[in-house]
Amino acid sequence: MRRLEGKVALISGTARGQGRAAALRFAAEGALVVGGDLLHEEAVETQRRIGREGGTALTPGPLDVTDEASVRAWAEAGAEAFGGIDIVYANAGAVRFGALTDQSYEDFTFTLRAELDSVWLTVRAAWPHLVESRGCVLTVGSTAGLTGSLTNRRTAHSASKGAVIALTRQLAAEGAPYGVRANCVSPGMVDTAGSRGNLLADDHPMREISRHIPLGRLGVPDDVVNAAVFLTSEEAAYITGANLVVDGGWSTVLPGATP
Ligand SMILES: NC(=O)c1ccc[n+]([C@@H]2O[C@H](COP(=O)([O-])OP(=O)(O)OC[C@H]3O[C@@H](n4cnc5c(N)ncnc54)[C@H](O)[C@@H]3O)[C@@H](O)[C@H]2O)c1
Repeated sequence: MRRLEGKVALISGTARGQGRAAALRFAAEGALVVGGDLLHEEAVETQRRIGREGGTALTPGPLDVTDEASVRAWAEAGAEAFGGIDIVYANAGAVRFGALTDQSYEDFTFTLRAELDSVWLTVRAAWPHLVESRGCVLTVGSTAGLTGSLTNRRTAHSASKGAVIALTRQLAAEGAPYGVRANCVSPGMVDTAGSRGNLLADDHPMREISRHIPLGRLGVPDDVVNAAVFLTSEEAAYITGANLVVDGGWSTVLPGATP
């Protein structure tokens, strides 16, 4: 028996990175995937790949997770096509890094909107369907929501990801009376198009730091998706309000002297 058989899963950010990996894997586990992304063509390509692999997916149209009407239309199209929603995986996000004194207020609010408001809007749009199905929420936090960093200047990103973790705990409280679970997965440094464009760029100091991950490698999208499948499956039926850190031990072990 596949682990998400027949579950309708709304996944944002399916054009690339962790969202594409999640869409492919959730479909392989039997889920009916409702994908969406600002990069619509790439998200449709993810849908095509799922189809070629024998899975079921829908990409209703270009999705902007910072736009209430867009998110609502996406969730409703998915619910209508597949008869409800069982899983909401709020993965999409975009970030502008910068220290407190370097960053414009516009870049701060851009990041909060793309990383925090987007999660609230996505969950809110799907919530009535989750209550109906006794479904579950999976949000994506980050080790940035748990620790500060001397190397990566990221006030907005730390604030938004810390808030996503806190929001998830509150969603667990508000969902429990309806049988709705809410959990967060917090990646450390994952090799994706997004991170290659900033923290893993050749000239970025974080690239060096990431070599000090205790388990000896960067994360790959499937490391996160493995946790996501578990948290959204029946195997996690008694888990809600958790923040599962997937970081190769990065945030739990203090850096020592280089051997
Ligand atoms: N890569 C990492 O190291 C890392 C670490 C911790 C947390 N995360 C989180 O994991 C999630 C996925 O990140 P990723 O590394 O796969 O990034 P990515 O940039 O490769 O993919 C993010 C996807 O979200 C989409 N997106 C961005 N803004 C959107 C919007 N307004 N509406 C719709 N789609 C939008 C992008 O087009 C892209 O397809 C994000 O929430 C990110 O903050 C990533």
